Amino acid sequence: MSVVTIAHAGEIATVTIDNPPVNALSQALRQGLWDAVATLDADPAVKAVVLICAGRTFIAGADVTEFGKPPMEPHLPDLVARIEGAQKPWIAAIHGSALGGGFEIAMGCRFRIALEGASVGLPEVTLGIVPGASGTVRTPRLAGVQAAVDLVTGGKPVKAAKAKTLGLIDAVVSGDLQAAALAFAREALEQPLPLPVSQRPIATPEPGFWEAQQTAIAKRARGEAAPLRALECLRKAAEASFDVAMAHERATFLELRASEQAQALRAVFFAERAAPRPAHLRDVEPVALRKVGVIGGGTMGAGIAAALRDAGLPVTLIERDAEALARGLGNLKTIFDGGVKRGKLSESQAAERLAGVTGATDYAALADADLVIEAVFEEIGVKRAVFTELARHCRDDAIMATNTSYLDPRAIAEGLPNPARFIGLHFFSPANVMKLLEIVPTAETSAQTLATGFALGRALNKIPVQAGICEGFIGNRILKRYRAAAEGLLRKGVAIPEIDAAMRGYGFAMGPFEAQDLGGLDIAFLQREGARAAGQAVPEALADILVRAGRKGQKTGGGWYDYAPGERAPRSSITVAELLAPHVTEFVSMTREEIAADLVGQMAAEGQAILDEGIARSPSDIDLVEIHGYGFPRWRGGPMFAAQGRS
Ligand code: 3HC
Ligand code: NAI
Repeated sequence: MSVVTIAHAGEIATVTIDNPPVNALSQALRQGLWDAVATLDADPAVKAVVLICAGRTFIAGADVTEFGKPPMEPHLPDLVARIEGAQKPWIAAIHGSALGGGFEIAMGCRFRIALEGASVGLPEVTLGIVPGASGTVRTPRLAGVQAAVDLVTGGKPVKAAKAKTLGLIDAVVSGDLQAAALAFAREALEQPLPLPVSQRPIATPEPGFWEAQQTAIAKRARGEAAPLRALECLRKAAEASFDVAMAHERATFLELRASEQAQALRAVFFAERAAPRPAHLRDVEPVALRKVGVIGGGTMGAGIAAALRDAGLPVTLIERDAEALARGLGNLKTIFDGGVKRGKLSESQAAERLAGVTGATDYAALADADLVIEAVFEEIGVKRAVFTELARHCRDDAIMATNTSYLDPRAIAEGLPNPARFIGLHFFSPANVMKLLEIVPTAETSAQTLATGFALGRALNKIPVQAGICEGFIGNRILKRYRAAAEGLLRKGVAIPEIDAAMRGYGFAMGPFEAQDLGGLDIAFLQREGARAAGQAVPEALADILVRAGRKGQKTGGGWYDYAPGERAPRSSITVAELLAPHVTEFVSMTREEIAADLVGQMAAEGQAILDEGIARSPSDIDLVEIHGYGFPRWRGGPMFAAQGRS
């Protein structure tokens, strides 16, 4: 079947695109639209054209799978110009998302209408590129420079109502989109047509506008190229002719498309889409999740319960006693109240989320749960006691999961009557925000239980990654190596602030030492002490010396740095220098690039060991873990991608 079909309703023609899954602008689709313009221009009975899409969305953009290949005709900018230059006005009828090239096609149309709930946007920067078919040149003509800068350099789509306010679309409609578009077209034909978008003027912004944007975006981008290059294109659009700006945009697009950053971001884009549906579980039916139990209402339990509620699942929260339960429910309320404060939830939505949590201290409340996630203290005895209770009270087919960070899930599951139903589900803090979910099966975990872990990941809109059993699974194991490597540099005489600055320069929001000061040095310390107590030979870390000296991070007024009371700005610490001096054995000189290369190299080396041991299923899984759990700069592609010399 053709990806473009034409139908007629009186003097209005409808061009329908049907190119699953997301109507991406493949060469065949571009050609189909190109030919449709000619066909409809040549048809005297047609007075206007509605452009609409079948399936789940309007055009989602250029076909990203074509990006590694030479551009093929007809090129997208030419197609947008051809639609705009058509003898009959085209009306884009948008449902789902009109993104990137999809929105550029819509801007080539004389009118744009969208269903309530639809979004429009130019997410190209998230792929390391700039819009390549007039997004930077037409958008400011429709919505002004400020809105265009926000849309293009931020890459975040906007909902139909906002798009209408900004002038990006002409009308928001509800109900039958096709009928609404036909009605809109008939009405539009009664009036003089607006100018094609390319011919509209751009209002000159106030003096200093571009410089201020440049400063703000450079700060935010932390080395990511595309947002600043997009800003350059927008400025060109405001200051040069349409044609000159188009040529500039196209050249920038083609240059960036071949860049390392774009390759990295494309790899992440496809890895993220593949992660929730791994091939080896394709034929396995997950258990239906209708009701979920969470044990423990602390930091993680409350966050997990909030994530479940955000996905609409009813939750039963179990705590050890009434007081702890009240605290746990209070933690949940704080999370939802925070959502209201940040404008993410209305008061009534927050109330509804909280109302969907039933608190209990008696495990009998879990009798009808399909899945229970344990998030109690990280102590094997406590956890085992919880699972003994679960085995007694839950249905035989209920899935039981642990959120342990470091304990061996096999030890937690020992003695369970139905170990096939047991699995590790390792969330990251804050669990209702962080995208990563490590899914840790034991040898006895059934395929269905594993598939249900992934189904949960999808339901919670997380990035699920399967991990094997080892200390720290994938992410915390690499974190441990990263921190040890950073300490290794300290021992060689590299200064703490230099290492932090190097990693910020690489693209992390924080360096390894300032991050530890924020999170607290004591958690990892206690874990090392626990291992030592269990007879393992764990070498003395420099962090141990600090914790023993009472320096646990910001919360104690000092860790790797000193902090003035009530301040978060790190200051180099003479005390730390004195404490560590006996352990500094060399004085090497390294540039920040060399420091970052060394530390990222060590992360990748640990990743390789993890792969060799079968703990991770693919390099891209490791990259997803680092990007979504540990703040690795997305545009670097992850440590494994970077190590292959591609970033
Ligand atoms: N090109 C090729 N394939 C694409 C694609 C694209 N632009 N967008 C999505 N896909 C594929 C996905 O890889 C996935 O494939 P799979 O089923 O084989 O895994 C499938 O379509 C479905 O994608 P999602 O799982 O993401 O579907 P959702 O329904 O959750 O989301 C969406 C739909 C919001 C449209 C989302 O897919 C999306 O955001 N896509 C990317 C949009 C984008 O970045 N567009 C800009 C492209 S660059 C451009 O247009 C340049 C231009 O200016 C010249
Ligand atoms: P926490 O101390 O904040 O919360 C633990 C909660 O469990 C407390 O509210 C406590 O009252 C409750 N609890 C203890 N014993 C219980 C029992 N027998 N029955 C019911 N409730 C009980 O701890 P946190 O940080 O939430 O950690 C929980 C688990 O999550 C641990 O296994 C931890 O390793 C893991 N984890 C923690 C992360 C973090 O960043 N804090 C990240 C990922 C995993």
